[in-house]
This record gives sequence, C-alpha cells and structure tokens, in this order.
Amino acid sequence: MNVDTLTYAGNARSLSDIEGEFGGDRYFFIQADICDQETIETVMREYQVDTIIHLAAESHVDRSIHAPADFIRTNVCGTFSLLEAARASWRDRSDVHFHHVSTDEVYGSLDAGDYFFEKTPYDPRSPYSSSKAASDHLVRAYFHTYGLPVTISNCSNNYGPYQFPDKLIPLMIHNMLTEKPLPVYGDGKHVRDWLFVKDHVAALWIILKFGQTGESYNIGGKSEVENIRLVELLCTILASELGRNDDCYKQRITYVKDRPGHDRRYAINCDKIEKELGWKRKVPLEPGLRQTVRWYLDNLAWIEQINSGEYKEWLVKNYEDRG
Ligand code: TYD
Repeated sequence: MNVDTLTYAGNARSLSDIEGEFGGDRYFFIQADICDQETIETVMREYQVDTIIHLAAESHVDRSIHAPADFIRTNVCGTFSLLEAARASWRDRSDVHFHHVSTDEVYGSLDAGDYFFEKTPYDPRSPYSSSKAASDHLVRAYFHTYGLPVTISNCSNNYGPYQFPDKLIPLMIHNMLTEKPLPVYGDGKHVRDWLFVKDHVAALWIILKFGQTGESYNIGGKSEVENIRLVELLCTILASELGRNDDCYKQRITYVKDRPGHDRRYAINCDKIEKELGWKRKVPLEPGLRQTVRWYLDNLAWIEQINSGEYKEWLVKNYEDRG
C-alpha cells in the first residue's frame, strides 16, 4: 500500500514496474497527503494496515532554505497526523509497527574523526534537519506517552536510481550529460557519507523484522568523501562509460557561493544495527556510483521529463542566488 501525495519529487512512473507486476493484487497506490488524517484512517481501516514505514518528507536542504513552510507542514504536521491516525486505528494493539525514517542531519555537523552515534545529542541547523528532528521527537513521545510500537532510523545521504535531480549526484550526472557547469558549493571540502539506496532498503526491512520497539538505528554507507572528490569520481566514471577523457567533464567544475549554514561533515557509526540486527552495507561507493551512472544513461527520458516545467524554474532561481 503506497500512499503518496505526488508533490514535485514524486513520480508515479518510478514504480511502473511494480505496478505492472503486482498492481491490484499485492500492490496498491493511493494519492493522499499524510496531513489528511481522515483519509489515512480510512485507508488503514479498509486495508487493515498493521505496519507503517513513514518515508514521506520534504528532504532537500536548499529548498528548506528558500521555502521552510512546506517542511514544517509535511515533516512536522504530517508526521503528527500520521501518528494520530495510527493511534486512533490501532488503539492499544501491540502487534503493529510504526517505523519512522529520518536523517543523520538531526545530529548537526562533525569535526574530523568524530562519528554520529544513536545517543549523539540532536543539534539540527537547517530548517530541513530541524523539521526532521521535531518529527523524531514526536515519534519517541508517542512511544513513551501512548505506548505506540515505534522504531526510528537515521540514515546518511542516499543515492542510486530514480533519485530526484535536486540532490548532488543526479544533478551532477545530468549537468555532465547536458554540458552544463558542475556547481560545487563553497570550497568543496564538505564531507558526506554515501549510502546506496538498496542497502538502505535492506536495513529498513531488517528493522521491521527484528528492530526493538522504542529504539533508533543509524544506517550509514561507510563511504565518506569530500564533495569535490565525489564530483571528480563521477566525472571519471561517466567518461569511462562513454569512452571519453574525463577532462571534458572536470573542466566544467565551478565553485559557487556556499549554502548558508552548510554542515561541514556527516559520518555515521552503524555498529548498533550491524551487531544487534545483523545488517551490513553491501555496495561500496565506486560500484554504487557506476550502477547509478549506468541507470541514468539508460533512463535519459525519465530525467528529461523531470527537468522541465516547475523544477526548471526552481533550478534557475537557486543558481541565480548563488551568482
Ligand atoms: P545534497 O545532495 O543536497 O544533500 P544534503 O544537503 O542533504 O547533504 O548535497 C550533498 C552535498 O553536496 C552537500 O554538502 C551540498 C553539496 N552540493 C553541491 O556542492 N552542489 C550542488 O549543486 C548540490 C545540490 C549540493
């Protein structure tokens, strides 16, 4: 049961293969907003929902700087209304599960050598990470106050097929393919820990099966890299896939005005999920990037369709602001 309101980053075409194989039998799609508690309760009743994986969120930091209200509405109010729907539908049932998907950005920014642990105090700095921190606190409050069986996961930067191109990796691939500049914010030495989307999904599944109620789990990719190195690596991979010299891409790297409040470094310690639940990240950075680049090369029409209309206007405005 897939509930999605299909705002700018949602795309029904991304799940057309699942729809084709399981539609009307094991897969159902409902276009609805998580803020609409009544509809969510109706869906939960009609389909006898006993497990919720809550992935619905506004997730792009740059957008949260330009338009924070959407982040408060969906991430904070939406999570609240989903929790209320679960509480009303499930009452005191203990054979149910509400899993909340969150981000490592709630922990703030790290110096070299430090890591985020599940017990690291929250210190969010962007409207996006603050809204996710608020939603995590609400989910925990529903566990302590109402006994709702919840778990939470905080993951690092995801990447892989079907990612909306306002995020670094698909944006760079698209700009390389369309001969545009490759905009690196600030000095390019900000560090992110990249997690291949299929490893993330495997972790969510393991938490659903074996996670302890009331607990949080960090999920990381063990793939820390400076942004500038990542962009250079993408240039090299795309060039090798197309049989070109990577200079043709690298020379388009352009340093642009930094993001306000840009967190310097994120890095996850994921010992807990590895030791307690037996999850391991399988896809290292380079093969993951190569799979991703190949997927975008095979799906140029998908990315073209997305890069028109409203999203194009947003891109132009974002980069005008950065000079
Ligand atoms: P992003 O994919 O937006 O994820 P997040 O902000 O949640 O980490 O950005 C990843 C990193 O890449 C971040 O440090 C900002 C940087 N970045 C650029 O340098 N240029 C860009 O065009 C974008 C979108 C991001």
